[in-house]
Amino acid sequence: MIITIDGPAAAGKGTLSQKLADRYCLAYFDTGMVYRAVGLLMLKGGRDLKNVLVAESEAEELTYSKMIELSTDKDFRSAKGGQAASIISGYPGVRARLLSMQQDFAKNPVFEDGRPAKGVIYDGRDTGTVVCPQADVKFFITAKPEVRAKRRYDEFIKKGMKADYEEVLRDVKQRDERDATRKDAPMKPAEDAIILDTSEMDIEAVFEKAAAIIEKKLK
Ligand code: DC
Repeated sequence: MIITIDGPAAAGKGTLSQKLADRYCLAYFDTGMVYRAVGLLMLKGGRDLKNVLVAESEAEELTYSKMIELSTDKDFRSAKGGQAASIISGYPGVRARLLSMQQDFAKNPVFEDGRPAKGVIYDGRDTGTVVCPQADVKFFITAKPEVRAKRRYDEFIKKGMKADYEEVLRDVKQRDERDATRKDAPMKPAEDAIILDTSEMDIEAVFEKAAAIIEKKLK
């Protein structure tokens, strides 16, 4: 079984994906990680994020295991890392080079400890439209920018990181704009995606709703 969960930054995709992966014993692929890995390699190498050729070459050489290794770096999930990922994800050549790694995962999905899984939950922006259009169930999770900024801000504070709400909100809006206007793969729901607006829902309510939809589809 393949499930895709797309939507803007901080809409709650990650938490929902992990809960669904646990419930249905599926592997989980957070596709934002491929862009974060390339962005981080650029930052660490002191590269100019506007240098498309260097970004393409980092993308070309990125492997799944290298990406997992980079994910433990303290800057991987930082606001700076997110901005870098957002910039390089706008380059069509970078996206093209990172596509097969994402698609191959569904052919041989594995849990974090390497055990094989029967299926996968993809989390991202274009997983239902580009990475895996043949998915069995597709969701598009969204929420108002102010609600998403507050959630991201709370996450930073909980992790003991410094944060300013207005800055987080600006960042969320800027990334929405960039994600929506990307030339080759603008973020939009797949035609057959189920849209869930989580502005007024907590994670448990979103999870129960998504699980009910999946079970209906499975019957
Ligand atoms: O979900 P995230 O914040 O980790 O994503 C980081 C960036 O990667 C985000 O700004 C847009 C990009 N991204 C993308 O272009 N396509 C995806 N499928 C996932 C993420």
